[in-house]
Amino acid sequence: MVTVTKHISVTVNGALRQAEVEPRLLLAHFLRDVLDLTGTHIGCDTSQCGACTVMVNGEAVKSCTMLAVQADGAAVTTVEGLGQMDAMHPIQQGFWEKHGLQCGFCTPGVMMAMVGLLKENPDPSEEEIRDGLEGVICRCTGYQFIVSAVQHAAKLIREAEETKQAMANAGEGR
Ligand code: FES
Ligand code: FES
Repeated sequence: MVTVTKHISVTVNGALRQAEVEPRLLLAHFLRDVLDLTGTHIGCDTSQCGACTVMVNGEAVKSCTMLAVQADGAAVTTVEGLGQMDAMHPIQQGFWEKHGLQCGFCTPGVMMAMVGLLKENPDPSEEEIRDGLEGVICRCTGYQFIVSAVQHAAKLIREAEETKQAMANAGEGR
Protein backbone atom coordinates (compact mmCIF):
# COMPACT_ATOMS: atom_id res chain seq x y z
CA MET A 1 0.00 0.00 0.00
CA VAL A 2 1.31 3.43 -0.93
CA THR A 3 1.35 5.91 1.95
CA VAL A 4 0.28 9.35 0.79
CA THR A 5 2.14 12.21 2.44
CA LYS A 6 2.00 15.96 2.19
CA HIS A 7 4.85 18.43 2.52
CA ILE A 8 4.18 21.03 5.22
CA SER A 9 6.09 24.10 6.42
CA VAL A 10 5.29 25.34 9.91
CA THR A 11 7.04 28.04 11.91
CA VAL A 12 7.42 26.52 15.35
CA ASN A 13 8.75 28.67 18.16
CA GLY A 14 10.17 31.05 15.57
CA ALA A 15 11.99 28.43 13.46
CA LEU A 16 10.76 27.16 10.08
CA ARG A 17 10.18 23.41 10.26
CA GLN A 18 9.39 21.31 7.19
CA ALA A 19 8.30 17.69 6.96
CA GLU A 20 6.48 15.10 4.91
CA VAL A 21 3.47 14.00 6.95
CA GLU A 22 0.51 11.71 6.56
CA PRO A 23 -2.72 13.72 6.15
CA ARG A 24 -4.19 12.03 9.24
CA LEU A 25 -1.32 13.07 11.55
CA LEU A 26 -2.53 15.23 14.42
CA LEU A 27 -0.69 18.46 15.20
CA ALA A 28 -0.05 17.14 18.73
CA HIS A 29 1.75 14.09 17.32
CA PHE A 30 3.63 16.19 14.76
CA LEU A 31 4.99 18.36 17.57
CA ARG A 32 5.84 15.47 19.87
CA ASP A 33 6.89 12.68 17.53
CA VAL A 34 8.27 14.50 14.49
CA LEU A 35 9.73 17.63 16.10
CA ASP A 36 10.49 16.04 19.50
CA LEU A 37 8.76 18.89 21.33
CA THR A 38 7.43 16.71 24.12
CA GLY A 39 6.37 19.60 26.34
CA THR A 40 3.01 19.40 24.57
CA HIS A 41 1.24 16.62 26.45
CA ILE A 42 -1.56 14.27 25.44
CA GLY A 43 -3.85 13.46 28.34
CA CYS A 44 -7.02 12.14 26.75
CA ASP A 45 -8.56 10.95 23.50
CA THR A 46 -11.73 12.98 23.85
CA SER A 47 -10.49 16.58 23.28
CA GLN A 48 -11.31 17.46 26.87
CA CYS A 49 -8.16 17.70 29.00
CA GLY A 50 -6.40 20.62 27.26
CA ALA A 51 -2.92 19.27 28.08
CA CYS A 52 -2.09 19.55 24.36
CA THR A 53 -2.91 23.28 24.08
CA VAL A 54 -0.54 25.36 21.92
CA MET A 55 -0.81 28.73 20.21
CA VAL A 56 -1.57 28.68 16.47
CA ASN A 57 -1.34 32.09 14.82
CA GLY A 58 -1.80 33.66 18.26
CA GLU A 59 -4.86 31.62 19.26
CA ALA A 60 -4.89 28.91 21.92
CA VAL A 61 -5.76 25.62 20.21
CA LYS A 62 -5.99 22.03 21.44
CA SER A 63 -3.42 20.45 19.15
CA CYS A 64 -5.16 17.05 19.29
CA THR A 65 -8.15 18.63 17.53
CA MET A 66 -6.14 19.82 14.53
CA LEU A 67 -4.30 18.00 11.77
CA ALA A 68 -0.67 18.83 11.12
CA VAL A 69 -1.57 19.61 7.50
CA GLN A 70 -4.00 22.27 8.76
CA ALA A 71 -1.04 24.01 10.38
CA ASP A 72 0.79 24.28 7.05
CA GLY A 73 1.97 27.90 6.76
CA ALA A 74 1.00 28.74 10.34
CA ALA A 75 3.03 30.01 13.29
CA VAL A 76 2.86 27.66 16.26
CA THR A 77 4.14 28.34 19.76
CA THR A 78 4.58 25.48 22.18
CA VAL A 79 5.51 25.63 25.84
CA GLU A 80 9.16 25.28 24.80
CA GLY A 81 8.86 28.62 22.99
CA LEU A 82 7.62 30.60 25.97
CA GLY A 83 10.87 31.32 27.77
CA GLN A 84 13.99 29.90 29.37
CA MET A 85 15.14 29.56 32.98
CA ASP A 86 17.10 32.80 32.77
CA ALA A 87 14.38 34.67 30.86
CA MET A 88 11.02 33.25 31.86
CA HIS A 89 7.75 34.32 30.29
CA PRO A 90 5.52 36.06 32.89
CA ILE A 91 3.18 33.05 32.90
CA GLN A 92 6.10 30.79 33.80
CA GLN A 93 7.21 33.30 36.43
CA GLY A 94 3.69 33.32 37.84
CA PHE A 95 3.53 29.52 38.11
CA TRP A 96 7.02 29.45 39.62
CA GLU A 97 6.39 32.13 42.26
CA LYS A 98 2.83 31.12 43.17
CA HIS A 99 3.35 27.34 43.12
CA GLY A 100 0.81 26.83 40.34
CA LEU A 101 1.62 23.17 39.74
CA GLN A 102 2.05 19.85 41.44
CA CYS A 103 2.76 16.90 39.11
CA GLY A 104 3.06 19.33 36.20
CA PHE A 105 1.35 17.14 33.60
CA CYS A 106 -1.36 19.69 32.82
CA THR A 107 0.94 22.70 33.22
CA PRO A 108 2.13 23.24 29.62
CA GLY A 109 -1.45 23.20 28.34
CA VAL A 110 -2.73 25.34 31.20
CA MET A 111 0.00 27.91 30.61
CA MET A 112 -0.66 28.08 26.87
CA ALA A 113 -4.41 28.45 27.46
CA MET A 114 -3.73 31.22 29.97
CA VAL A 115 -1.34 33.00 27.61
CA GLY A 116 -4.28 33.07 25.20
CA LEU A 117 -6.59 34.41 27.89
CA LEU A 118 -4.17 37.16 28.99
CA LYS A 119 -3.67 38.22 25.39
CA GLU A 120 -7.39 38.91 25.12
CA ASN A 121 -7.90 40.11 28.68
CA PRO A 122 -4.81 41.56 30.42
CA ASP A 123 -6.61 42.07 33.74
CA PRO A 124 -8.95 39.10 34.24
CA SER A 125 -11.03 38.65 37.37
CA GLU A 126 -10.83 35.37 39.29
CA GLU A 127 -14.13 34.34 37.70
CA GLU A 128 -12.82 35.09 34.21
CA ILE A 129 -9.69 33.04 34.88
CA ARG A 130 -11.80 30.14 36.16
CA ASP A 131 -13.99 30.41 33.05
CA GLY A 132 -10.84 30.33 30.89
CA LEU A 133 -9.68 27.21 32.71
CA GLU A 134 -12.80 25.31 31.74
CA GLY A 135 -11.10 23.75 28.72
CA VAL A 136 -8.14 22.43 30.72
CA ILE A 137 -8.20 19.82 33.43
CA CYS A 138 -5.86 19.66 36.40
CA ARG A 139 -6.14 16.60 38.63
CA CYS A 140 -3.80 17.83 41.35
CA THR A 141 -3.97 21.47 42.36
CA GLY A 142 -7.62 22.27 43.05
CA TYR A 143 -7.03 25.27 40.71
CA GLN A 144 -6.60 27.92 43.45
CA PHE A 145 -2.82 28.13 43.00
CA ILE A 146 -3.27 28.18 39.23
CA VAL A 147 -5.63 31.15 39.58
CA SER A 148 -3.07 32.94 41.81
CA ALA A 149 -0.32 32.18 39.29
CA VAL A 150 -2.34 33.65 36.42
CA GLN A 151 -3.24 36.75 38.45
CA HIS A 152 0.46 37.22 39.24
CA ALA A 153 1.42 36.74 35.59
CA ALA A 154 -1.19 39.33 34.58
CA LYS A 155 0.31 41.80 37.07
CA LEU A 156 3.85 41.15 35.75
CA ILE A 157 2.70 41.71 32.15
CA ARG A 158 0.91 44.95 33.07
CA GLU A 159 3.94 46.23 35.03
CA ALA A 160 6.28 45.41 32.12
CA GLU A 161 3.92 47.26 29.77
CA GLU A 162 3.81 50.30 32.09
CA THR A 163 7.62 50.36 32.32
CA LYS A 164 7.89 50.14 28.53
CA GLN A 165 5.38 52.97 28.14
CA ALA A 166 7.17 55.17 30.73
CA MET A 167 10.49 54.62 28.93
CA ALA A 168 8.90 55.47 25.57
CA ASN A 169 7.38 58.64 27.06
CA ALA A 170 10.74 59.61 28.60
CA GLY A 171 12.39 59.08 25.20
CA GLU A 172 9.84 61.34 23.51
CA GLY A 173 10.43 64.08 26.13
CA ARG A 174 14.14 64.29 25.37
S1 FES B 1 -4.97 15.58 24.60
FE1 FES B 1 -6.70 16.02 25.84
S2 FES B 1 -7.58 17.75 24.82
FE2 FES B 1 -5.90 17.24 23.60
S1 FES C 1 -0.48 19.72 38.31
FE1 FES C 1 -0.94 17.59 38.12
S2 FES C 1 -2.55 17.56 36.66
FE2 FES C 1 -2.26 19.63 37.06
